[in-house]
Amino acid sequence: MRYSLFGESHGPAIGIVLQGVPAGIVADMDFIASEMARRAPGKPPLATQRSEKDTVRIISGVFEGKTCGTPLCGIIENTDARSGDYAAVRRTPRPGHADFAAHVRYGGFEDFRGGGHFSGRLTAPIVFAGAIAKLALMQKGIEIFAHVKNIAGIADDSPDAAFPDAAALRSARDKEIPVLNDARGEAMRRAILEARDRGDSVGGAVECFIAGLPAGLGSPDFDENLESIIARHIFAIPAVKALEFGAGTAFAAMCGSGANDPWLPGSPLPVTQSNHNGGINGGISNGMPVVFTATIKPTPSIARTQRTVDLATGKAAELNLAGRHDPCIVPRAVPVIEAAAALAATEIPGVLP
Ligand SMILES: Cc1cc2nc3c(=O)[nH]c(=O)nc-3n(C[C@H](O)[C@H](O)[C@H](O)COP(=O)(O)O)c2cc1C
Repeated sequence: MRYSLFGESHGPAIGIVLQGVPAGIVADMDFIASEMARRAPGKPPLATQRSEKDTVRIISGVFEGKTCGTPLCGIIENTDARSGDYAAVRRTPRPGHADFAAHVRYGGFEDFRGGGHFSGRLTAPIVFAGAIAKLALMQKGIEIFAHVKNIAGIADDSPDAAFPDAAALRSARDKEIPVLNDARGEAMRRAILEARDRGDSVGGAVECFIAGLPAGLGSPDFDENLESIIARHIFAIPAVKALEFGAGTAFAAMCGSGANDPWLPGSPLPVTQSNHNGGINGGISNGMPVVFTATIKPTPSIARTQRTVDLATGKAAELNLAGRHDPCIVPRAVPVIEAAAALAATEIPGVLP
């Protein structure tokens, strides 16, 4: 599947067009709504107070409750935009956000309101498309799970990367902070609220598993390399600044004897005892779960006074931001990362018809 996102945060609507959806997938609207609810804003105090229902209207590609194989378009209306909050951003770009880069890229014609096309809100249609992708993948026995790996330096429990406990990961799905260890989740929650009270924000990381991907899919070629395909999808998510497969950056301090994943006899195919390589060797799935970690930066829009430049005068300026922002993006990024992983999986040759 390939997608094209459209819309701006404070325009009438946002949406997505999905190409390459197999025909005959049941468009399970309850499942789609439950996925949308995981990302939807309006759950203060942890998240932005913008209140959006995020109801998707499917306007093409579904007939009599099933996908019909033609381009599938879903639209989500923007109902709670307050553009006045962003008047300052036009002249004084937010540090860490895309305001200045977009201003230069689009010659001043960009819709700057609420971050325009660069708003985290544009991840809602990605979650919708990811839900369609998940429905298609379920038929192939492929399931995607993610949890918050850490926030503000506080780590969740680490699942066994080779044989993750699917039930435990599923149980994290609908938590306000999707973690395995609730005490750690509570500590993360306190850290988020403390950051908010300081007018600041915090970052973290999301760990994601693609389970059930058969061995032998992908290729070393960059177009079909599993790491390349996943990276392209994950880096399309705003605020993702690093991606690690398996042990990732920890490999730097390992020896080969510790980094290698010993092969064990299995049925019908061998399995590995550990999964430091994240289920991928040579750009090809090895039959173990694909495991990756995406690092999410702290929310750039913060309530503190920040240094910027007045683009009209070229002079130094201060920015005091109004608007409604998550003090931490990470919990709401979990379903978005899952959606991106699902969309990536559908792009791997051989996964879908
Ligand atoms: C689910 C989600 C919600 C987000 N919410 C906000 C927000 O409320 N305020 C904000 O400044 N950035 C938010 N962002 C991040 C910005 O969209 C992002 O930092 C910006 O587009 C610049 O892109 P970059 O960080 O990838 O360089 C959010 C991102 C995601 C994934």
